Amino acid sequence: MRRLDPTLLPGGRTGTLRAWVTDRIVDDGLLPAERALVADAVPVRRAQFASARRCARAALRDLGRPAAPVLHDLRRRPRWPAGVVGSMSHGTGVAAAVVGSAAAWQGVGIDVEAAVPLPDDVVDMLLTPQERRRLHGWARPEAPGTTVVFSVKESAFKIFSPLTDGWLDPDDVDVRVAAEGAATAELARPLPDGRTRLHGRWGVVGGAVVTLLAAPVVVDRLGAWDFAEGTGQR
Ligand SMILES: CC(C)(COP(=O)(O)OP(=O)(O)OC[C@H]1O[C@@H](n2cnc3c(N)ncnc32)[C@H](O)[C@@H]1OP(=O)(O)O)[C@@H](O)C(=O)NCCC(=O)NCCS
Repeated sequence: MRRLDPTLLPGGRTGTLRAWVTDRIVDDGLLPAERALVADAVPVRRAQFASARRCARAALRDLGRPAAPVLHDLRRRPRWPAGVVGSMSHGTGVAAAVVGSAAAWQGVGIDVEAAVPLPDDVVDMLLTPQERRRLHGWARPEAPGTTVVFSVKESAFKIFSPLTDGWLDPDDVDVRVAAEGAATAELARPLPDGRTRLHGRWGVVGGAVVTLLAAPVVVDRLGAWDFAEGTGQR
């Protein structure tokens, strides 16, 4: 298990988010309350669930917070300790989690997807014609552009859902990704503070595309703080 490359974090090395990633997908390290949630699950689900939570625990420790179980609500949205926002994701080969202080961030979303191209019919379902057009000439063969765009949509949903209790279809999120790692998601419906644009980063970790978006807290518009959009720093 290791820290996610800080270049993948909105705010970079000096930002206030903490993210960890692992390629050891095993059923290990669950706290009793977490174990109870997956007692009846198939082994692969337990392994992915546990691996994401080991990452969450490491990220919480990194943030200076005590180890606490990360449970979920009836809709599977993770429940973080008071004062913390976070997100988790797990694929077949990689699991990851990100956390941040709720004083700086309204929400964060992380997603991992195998770095393989999506089948054409799936691309047609998940990406708008405009998003597909923007990918013409995409020059990062190790990270299929369609997969990066889809993953950014999932990261956006993981911010939108807990904050609004709402739903997004794939064409409710218009994604732009730059080959060098920037990502933005424009939402068809706003977050509670009126924001419709989310900023973030993407990269490749251990054969997986990892995307991460974050919504900073909107601070005093009268200028009590000098707030740099997307960095979470005041
Ligand atoms: C929730 C969802 C994003 C999870 O994605 P996934 O690829 O199935 O799984 P991931 O491994 O990436 O993420 C799973 C984790 O997401 C978190 N999660 C689940 N539902 C969530 C929600 N509504 N909001 C935020 N986080 C959620 C959980 O921590 C879960 O892990 P856990 O069950 O071990 O606790 C997806 O299942 C979904 O419902 N998407 C919305 C519909 C959609 O695809 N719209 C198009 C994009 S806008």
